[in-house]
Amino acid sequence: MTDRTTLDVDFCRAFFPPIGNGLAYLENAGGSYVPEPVIEAVTGYMRESQCQPGWTFASSRQARARIDAGLAFAAGAINAGQDEVVVGPSTTLNAYVLAQALRPAMREGDEIIVTNQDHESNGGVWRRLAQTGITVREWRIDPTSGDLDLADLDALLGPRTRLVCFPHVSNIVGSVNDVAAITARAHAAGARVCVDGVAAVAHDLPDVKALDVDFYLFSFYKLYGPHLALLYAKREHIVAAANQNHYFHEHSIPAKLNPGGLSYESVAGIAGIGSYLEAVDGHHFDAPANSLRSRIERVYTLFRAQEANLMARLLGHLDRHPEVRLVGRRSADPKLRAPTFCLVAPGRSPEALANALAERGICVGHGHFYGKRCVEALGIDSETGVLRLSMVHYNTVDEIDRAGEALHALL
Ligand SMILES: Cc1ncc(COP(=O)(O)O)c(C=O)c1O
Repeated sequence: MTDRTTLDVDFCRAFFPPIGNGLAYLENAGGSYVPEPVIEAVTGYMRESQCQPGWTFASSRQARARIDAGLAFAAGAINAGQDEVVVGPSTTLNAYVLAQALRPAMREGDEIIVTNQDHESNGGVWRRLAQTGITVREWRIDPTSGDLDLADLDALLGPRTRLVCFPHVSNIVGSVNDVAAITARAHAAGARVCVDGVAAVAHDLPDVKALDVDFYLFSFYKLYGPHLALLYAKREHIVAAANQNHYFHEHSIPAKLNPGGLSYESVAGIAGIGSYLEAVDGHHFDAPANSLRSRIERVYTLFRAQEANLMARLLGHLDRHPEVRLVGRRSADPKLRAPTFCLVAPGRSPEALANALAERGICVGHGHFYGKRCVEALGIDSETGVLRLSMVHYNTVDEIDRAGEALHALL
């Protein structure tokens, strides 16, 4: 056998039970489907080892091993150390805890830069620190393109900037931000970065060391996993952060940033994401790749090529409707945008369009998706918001055609 150069989409689809329901699922940016190995890992944990982990009896040792497998994959997938990742209930809560943990080391008048491109998760918690004397500066998008301009960031950075918070990918605009370039600029100014990767990780699971980010957040339920989220923080930042856990955890790395216990069965489920990606790797590549990261990188290269096909196909359908505003870059290049497409059709309610598509078996979302500031900055009424079609690698050209034709008929 020789290595496959294109993704075997049918092979991938067979892992996801709901795909058999015949619906075209295009609300992946809201939450992706879950493959069998994740379901098996969660139910296996609950069936065979639902007990307190860490003791020496057999089921407890098994519980510990399953939890550790989930945590090991979570860290290894982004090239982080296991002592640098916290798995919490959601990105919103992880960001909240992080803000509480970083605030004590800041002084009144210190500055934090936030964007109006972000989901509120990586904005609200930082903006709220203004009530405690922090100066919050807003890095604003271009209202037409939805893009963030690096020159505008340069104008905001100063000697008192402590943190720059921004998305890897916006869940509204879909643009891929240049995380390495933004991070390098922030570091040159003596600031750290906190990156929201939630809308990115299904399309680009980054190497956090290569990007040199200080903090990176994402949610597993957008990455074929359970409802949990990861906070990556450089070890020295965890050491310096204020303890958010019980007082006797003051020196527990990384538990000091994780108040409350883990959802054990869900953490066990994270290992199933790894099993799925390994199965895709094994199916496509003959030559062994000796690190988890190199296997992830070659699998994701296949994912992105498939997503580029889907994006090009959707853009072709949209070309028939020049009156429809596509938010973000009109590009099928995965380096420039994620396959998350927000649309506004003049005089047409996004909700009514979404409902009409649902009647035709096409699953999409509508509204502001908690990127309310972003939608408003684009000059769109956030009460009605946008219609959003979002794909991942397991979607097919046929599904895009079904959505494109249905939209065409409705418009
Ligand atoms: C870009 C982005 N950031 C953050 C979040 C919030 O994630 P969580 O639900 O885990 O708090 C979402 C959820 O939709 C999102 O799309």
